[in-house]
Amino acid sequence: MEILQSLKIEHEELHSELARAMNAGGSTGAAAKAVSKALHPHFIKEEEYALPPLGLLQVLAAGKITPEAGAVIAMTGKLKAGLQEMMSEHEKIVSALNNLAQAARDEKKMEFIRFAEKLKLHAQMEEQILYPAAILVGEYLKLKSGK
Ligand SMILES: [Fe+2]
Ligand SMILES: [Fe+2]
Repeated sequence: MEILQSLKIEHEELHSELARAMNAGGSTGAAAKAVSKALHPHFIKEEEYALPPLGLLQVLAAGKITPEAGAVIAMTGKLKAGLQEMMSEHEKIVSALNNLAQAARDEKKMEFIRFAEKLKLHAQMEEQILYPAAILVGEYLKLKSGK
């Protein structure tokens, strides 16, 4: 299953902005490296099983059935079981981002303060919308297929 282009591009953009912050040198660069360390394994998990189920939303909302139910239920099951861990990874990422924002403020690298805010908002949006929507896709498929 492919990740929706809109979500994929957002992740790629965050990644490349983080790479720029890492190359900014000074304490901003060092703080960005700490963000990257917390973020990288988290992004991999998201792209493996949290985001792909969202590709079915439009089809399911249109009342169509999908042949990929089994694989998607497996993914959303993994997300549901690991949800607390995903949330605590967000907490670690956010605290690394707060350090990055502070360093960027001290070094007057304003664009990376904005980046830190943007990535925090991304995590919040996932917690409030994307993760629950992905889990609901799985729950809906289970209901529909009687599993
Ligand atoms: Fe993400
Ligand atoms: Fe996330």
